[in-house]
Amino acid sequence: MTDSGKEKNRKRLLMCRPSFYSVDYVINPWMKGNIGKVDRAKAKDQWNRLHEIIASRAEVELIKPADGLPDMVFTANAGLVMGGDVVLAHFAHSERSPEEPFFRKWFEANRFTVHTVPDNLFFEGAGDALFDSDGRKLWVAYGDRTSLEIHPWLAALFNVEVVSLRLTDRRFYHLDTCFFPLPGGYLLYYPDAFDSRSVRQIERFVPAPKRITIDGADASAFSANGVALDRTVIMHACSEELRAKLSSAGFETVVTDLSEFMKAGGSAKCLTLRLDEPVPATSSARSEVSSRKIVAEGQLLDAGRMSGICDAIVMGGGSFRVRRMRIGQSRQAPSTAEIEVTAPDVSILDSLIEKIVRLGARLPAGETTDAKLEHVVKDGVAPDNFYSSTIYKTEVRVNGGWVEVSGQRMDSVVVVADGEAHCELLRNIKAGEMVVTGSDGVRLVRETARAEHGEGFGFMQSGISSERRVELSIGRIAWEMNHIKN
Ligand code: ARG
Repeated sequence: MTDSGKEKNRKRLLMCRPSFYSVDYVINPWMKGNIGKVDRAKAKDQWNRLHEIIASRAEVELIKPADGLPDMVFTANAGLVMGGDVVLAHFAHSERSPEEPFFRKWFEANRFTVHTVPDNLFFEGAGDALFDSDGRKLWVAYGDRTSLEIHPWLAALFNVEVVSLRLTDRRFYHLDTCFFPLPGGYLLYYPDAFDSRSVRQIERFVPAPKRITIDGADASAFSANGVALDRTVIMHACSEELRAKLSSAGFETVVTDLSEFMKAGGSAKCLTLRLDEPVPATSSARSEVSSRKIVAEGQLLDAGRMSGICDAIVMGGGSFRVRRMRIGQSRQAPSTAEIEVTAPDVSILDSLIEKIVRLGARLPAGETTDAKLEHVVKDGVAPDNFYSSTIYKTEVRVNGGWVEVSGQRMDSVVVVADGEAHCELLRNIKAGEMVVTGSDGVRLVRETARAEHGEGFGFMQSGISSERRVELSIGRIAWEMNHIKN
């Protein structure tokens, strides 16, 4: 740390002059239609004004801008600082990865200890990772930019509790576009940018009187992308309603036009990086993120099964890494893939594993256990977590050996008796029978070369998960139309 950084309570931020700022490519929906449309003189004025407002309340450090790196002004993405340590960003888009060495050099020159994220994982710094005001909790997003797999790694490195939040609206591609922790434990956020589990997480950790929610209009005006310096909140725009909410929470708002930066999908917060995030006195590493390996075998590519499995994982709120893949050399030859599935918590992981077992994946040989059996307690009522069958030939593991399920049919219960297994309609199961639950010890035998989904699933084309409401989709379409019109 520099000497000035040692001063107690002196806020310190990093900014980068917009000398080379422009919109040269499209990596988020805001940039669409804005290539070459930045008025650089105006951008400079807006940036200077923001700099002036911040510099009157905090210390501002500057990094020299680099020609050819138009997004380098958005220093929030340089990395994540805690005490004298920084985790350097590793950008998801190749357009921004050339910024990394410049930020590294600056951090090193300013005596930070620079940490690099593990191979093949992405992390977009304080754009996607935000500390609570007490510094003990770190909210980290995943979705378009930052990998879910990095979350437990960050928890361990910084010895903090990480709460994982999933971004589901492409317009709010970074956490800091829709989520703004304020001093005093307050949180300003746009709930519709998250999946329902994430909203529940927010509500679990932030008490109702401290939650300040904003609507689509405020969110689209980047009101969640503010800079908070004590009781002053600096932002591009603020509705009267939001101003009133902030004021009753004890915050004064300072509005400053940053329209030129919105063309690249950024605003006040994106243009700054906090360099003085303190190391909390007490905290401990915690993350609910969990992973498990599965194996997929057979006609993975030509039957579209691989993309079916990957889709199911991502749509279900998880993430995957293909650890090893052997591709069959001819149409008939089977392929094998070892896939690491990661989910924000164990229960989501279990449900993902169950889904993909139904798509033909299985647990690695060493990890296979017998199928878990549970008693039926009442005629026609299956245990909560019963395995619901598919149309594909299935085997279950009983007493250490695989047995074929007879009478294969869809959406039924697998009953195991005397070392044999068969499918049974739910209404026909009887109290006392043993049925398969979960997906351990279950595998599908599928060697058909036809497309597995009928509908020809593409990988993550919709960007809208099944739990999103129709009105949200309409809101987004309206936004697109407006954006095009403007
Ligand atoms: N054009 C930049 C990008 O898409 C904008 C980054 C905004 N930064 C932020 N922290 N939200 O990466």
